[in-house]
Amino acid sequence: PGGTIVEPTSGNTGVGLAMAANLKGYKLICVAPDKIPKEKVALLEAMGATVVSCPTNVAAEDPRSYYKVSERIRDEQGAYLPYQYYNPANPEAHYRTTGPEIWRQTDGKVTHYVVGVGTGGTISGTAKYLKEQNPNVQVIGVDTVGSVYKYYFEHRELPPEDQIHQYLIDGIGEDFLPTCVWWDYIDGIVTIDDKTAYRATMELARRESIFTGSSGGAAAAGARQVAQGLGADGLVVTLLPDSGERYLSKLNKQWLTEKGLLDGDGV
Ligand SMILES: Cc1ncc(COP(=O)(O)O)c(C=O)c1O
Repeated sequence: PGGTIVEPTSGNTGVGLAMAANLKGYKLICVAPDKIPKEKVALLEAMGATVVSCPTNVAAEDPRSYYKVSERIRDEQGAYLPYQYYNPANPEAHYRTTGPEIWRQTDGKVTHYVVGVGTGGTISGTAKYLKEQNPNVQVIGVDTVGSVYKYYFEHRELPPEDQIHQYLIDGIGEDFLPTCVWWDYIDGIVTIDDKTAYRATMELARRESIFTGSSGGAAAAGARQVAQGLGADGLVVTLLPDSGERYLSKLNKQWLTEKGLLDGDGV
């Protein structure tokens, strides 16, 4: 207690760490990419964290990236860096909680698990658990256009640099390979582009009254794609990581129009 925790996070891990830091008496520094919505910055600051903003459009190895800035703060301040991308406690938490929850709630009937891949913690831990119950469960990751996962899955190497670029979906996709992605448990990767993800996000809100963030929209769009190829006994499970209320500065007509994400029907 009394020490400092520093973590590169686009928000949600930071909120969890802020809760733990407050209860246990640590200082928290969240190093965030500048595309993080202002609601999340406000939430982190309200919970007592310091938020350091870094450019999103630099490579992970660049000293200005939010990963490298976190490492520098760790070294300079003797801070503890949990490092969600490399910390096995991340997938293990999903092995202990998310996997059993899905298995229980589907009475063991889940056939396909389709889920976004950011750090990889969710897909890896859940997949390990589900495949231990039934090795036939198919696990499909949802990636963004501009990220490395789909290409890596197909070629077992990183894509050429010109294929790695920014995108507007928050929380999934990466430009490097975190060790929390356990490739042995992953049967396929689908890519979802920004427009498809945001359209699915707004459709979920308006047709199903489920208000989630853009990674939730991407997961739903990916799940729909996988479900289209299945028969009546297919049972597809997906996961919507957080609430759309954390992205209200993006999930509105003005921002969506500015970014060219709306079509004529206004959804
Ligand atoms: C909003 C959001 N979506 C998706 C993810 C991806 O989950 P994971 O990091 O477990 O792959 C995260 C977490 O990093 C997130 O914060």
